[in-house]
Amino acid sequence: MSSMNLIDNTILFVKKQLENAEGGHDWFHIERVYKNALLIAQGESCDLTVVKLGALLHDVADSKFHNGDETVGPKVARTFLESENVPEATIQHVINIIENISFKGGNFERKFHSKELDIVQDADRLDAIGAIGIARAFNYGGFKNRTLHNPNIPVNMSMSKEEYKKTEAPTINHFYEKLLLLKDRMNTETGKKIALDRHNYMEGFLSQFYAEWDGEK
Ligand code: ADP
Ligand code: NI
Repeated sequence: MSSMNLIDNTILFVKKQLENAEGGHDWFHIERVYKNALLIAQGESCDLTVVKLGALLHDVADSKFHNGDETVGPKVARTFLESENVPEATIQHVINIIENISFKGGNFERKFHSKELDIVQDADRLDAIGAIGIARAFNYGGFKNRTLHNPNIPVNMSMSKEEYKKTEAPTINHFYEKLLLLKDRMNTETGKKIALDRHNYMEGFLSQFYAEWDGEK
């Protein structure tokens, strides 16, 4: 099977898998990550097939939507890649990417390292920040029925983690828990550069948001 055919088939497979996905995790998220990954890969020496497959399959069964079960995504991806007769080494590398890409509060020690994972992880992180990142955060917050912002719920996590979890933190808090931290977690030079622009855009958004909240603008 030619590698072009494999990528086309993977695109069809992922589109089908994500037909009913929530707006922040739909096919268009995958398409943006795929494009980001190709852009970043231009500046790196890497196995492009692994990068493409990793980007396309990284959210094929997100654990958030499978009762926290993190084994579903890798299993679904493996079954598909085996049906496409992809070499075992490539399958294993793609599975390692899927299993290690997630942010997990930032304290997650990556067990697997490769240039291809660096690239796909940066590509995924770029889609969580900037204008798209803002849109995805509020979309996810709406999906979870969260409030936009609540000045009584501090963004600095001064309460205990358990207490905080119970408060159903507003979407604005997610910026401080994750989105504003991502620019310092990028792996590649291209990723870092794009992340800085998107980070600055979010900082601007937040100051405008608070000014409007207070009726100043
Ligand atoms: P990743 O795609 O890196 O695994 P997630 O699946 O955690 O990231 O998140 C997917 C999207 O949903 C991201 O844009 C993220 O910012 C957003 N999101 C996740 N958790 C929250 C939350 N508690 N509030 C708002 N947005 C969230
Ligand atoms: Ni993703």
